[in-house]
This record gives sequence, structure tokens and C-alpha cells, in this order.
Amino acid sequence: MSRKNQTLGEFIIENQSSFKYTSGELSRLINSIRLAAKVVNHEVNKAGLVDIIGAAGDTNIQGEDQQKLDVYANNKFIQTMTKRNIVCGIASEEEDDFISINSQDENHQNKYVVLIDPLDGSSNIDVNVSVGTIFSIYRRVTPVGTPATIDDFLQKGNQQVAAGYIIYGTSTMIVYTTGDGVNGFTLNPAIGTFYLSHPDMKFPENGKIYSVNEGNYIHFPQGIKNYIKYCQMEEGDRPYTSRYIGSLVSDFHRNMIKGGIYMYPKSSKNSNGKLRLLYECNPMAYIAEQANGKASDGFNRIMDIEPTELHQRVPFICGSKNMVEKAEEFMRNA
Ligand code: AHG
Ligand code: MN
Ligand code: MN
Repeated sequence: MSRKNQTLGEFIIENQSSFKYTSGELSRLINSIRLAAKVVNHEVNKAGLVDIIGAAGDTNIQGEDQQKLDVYANNKFIQTMTKRNIVCGIASEEEDDFISINSQDENHQNKYVVLIDPLDGSSNIDVNVSVGTIFSIYRRVTPVGTPATIDDFLQKGNQQVAAGYIIYGTSTMIVYTTGDGVNGFTLNPAIGTFYLSHPDMKFPENGKIYSVNEGNYIHFPQGIKNYIKYCQMEEGDRPYTSRYIGSLVSDFHRNMIKGGIYMYPKSSKNSNGKLRLLYECNPMAYIAEQANGKASDGFNRIMDIEPTELHQRVPFICGSKNMVEKAEEFMRNA
């Protein structure tokens, strides 16, 4: 029985038995993410104080400049998860290829793979706006004791066993699901403990917020243009309010609490949009569905898309159920 003010540590132990594989490994994995989150949080909070912001000089596979904190968060999460014998492979936005763990040791029993966006919204760090971390967890499909392969990572989102995000905001939270609803925990930074603050989070069925980078309007598909006009029309509970932080985790988190829709559609410049299927859209889609929300590429359920590449992009529409369905209707009829 979850109760408010319970610590994340207590919650993980008490809810372990409700998970269908009860070996305790998934609990230990989530515990290691909790630990890395605290360390990264500490570093993110210092960003304005010490001169560690700015590009680290590397360019990631998406052709974007890496900020130093992206690299820091990437290393910290990988280090923390690698140490425990649970994960056989990790894929990250910041790594061109996936990392295989214990691939030389035939006796290892590591069953899980993790896909991660170590720092989401990282262009916001320089200006003191919230950033996040997104993670997605699967059981491997190749035999235990062998090196992880690309097949372990290219699984449909509907195979996820857990997913979550950390938001480094006005307060730091970890929000995650293991397929039994969504719970949010807030960090008390004075003692470094996460407490259950948002039990059983749910998207309101309807919302009044739409989040999209409207600067790209001219490049959007006609269905999205029509839906945006619908959001702005004076009728019933409309016009809706426009809110766009430019940090998926933060925009999603606000919309889940208040009711809203987030859209990163394809455009005439990016035929598949911008966001990455495996470590941005799938985990957010899993959380959304576990919270009564919905996630779509405009036509199909995000979690039913067959992945073909590690860093694949996909158009993303996610949020309150009725709003996402309305946007899909506009896409179908355009
Ligand atoms: P990341 O920092 O991991 O590259 O992700 C940024 C993503 C997402 O968080 C955000 O919603 C979106 O990019 C913003 O893109 P635009 O600046 O094109 O609106
Ligand atoms: Mn991101
Ligand atoms: Mn990122």
C-alpha cells in the first residue's frame, strides 16, 4: 500500500512483489537510477555557480553540440548502472552505438537493457530552465550470458517493463511506472531522500494547454496546422493556452498535472520530426498510457511502432486522451 510521504526506497521494496518478475533485480536497477539522479541533480544545481556550462567540444550522433552536463549525466548514469550486475546493455542519446556490459563473462545473469536520454532539454541549462532525464527499461530478448545485441534494444515500446523521468526543476522529482500506474517522488535536497508526493498520477481526460514550437508552423503538416487553429478558436472551452518550455520532460510533466497536449510533428524540414523513438517517445508514451493519457505519431500508437534504428526519430503527439484523439482526427481528415 503506497502512502504519501513514504520514501522511494520504502516504496520500491513494498511494491516489488506486485511486479511480475519478482527477483528484485528491477528494484535494484531503479535504485541505481535513484542514486545517479541525486548525483546529477547536485551537479545540475551547481551549473550556474561554477563554469561548467557550455559545449564540451564533442558533437553527438544527431550533429548537435554536447554540453558538458550532457556528458557528465551520461557518464554518471552509465557508471552507476554498470556497477550492479543487472544490465547487459545501455543505449544513450550521447553514444553512437549501444554499450555491451559483461560481454566477456559467460556466467553473468544480467537480464535488462536500458535506453536513456541522460539530459533532456540541455539547451535550457544556460538560462536556468528545467531539464530532465528519461529512461526506458526492457528485458533482453537474446539469451542470458551472451553479449547484448541490437535486437535487445530494437523492441517495441509495448514491451517496456519500466520507464520514467527525472525532472530537475524548482524541485527535483522522479516519476516512473513499472506497469502499475505512475507515481511521483520529490527530493528533499537537505537529506537526499525522495518522498512519494504524487501517488497514482493521471492525465485529466481533457485539458486546456497545447505545447508546440509554433515557430515551425509554416513547415507543419496541414492536419497539425488545422488542429492548432482549432486550439485557438473561440468556442466552448477554447481558446486553449499555449505553453512551450522546449524541454520535453517539463512540458510533459506540466501537461500531466494540468491537462494538455504536447506535439513535435514532422515538418517539411524533418520528415520524422525531431524526437527519438527509443529513449524519448516510448518511455513518455508508456508513462502517458499508464496515467490514462495517450501517445501517437498522428496515426498510430507510439508503442506499437517497430523500431529499425537506435537513434530513430518519430513525430510525437502526447497528452490528455481526448486532446490527442482530436489531433489524430485532424490528421486523418487533412
Ligand atoms: P535534448 O536536449 O535531449 O536534445 O532534447 C531536446 C528536445 C526536447 O526536450 C524538446 O521538447 C525539444 O527538443 C525542443 O526542440 P525545439 O527547440 O526544436 O522546439
Ligand atoms: Mn531529449
Ligand atoms: Mn539529451
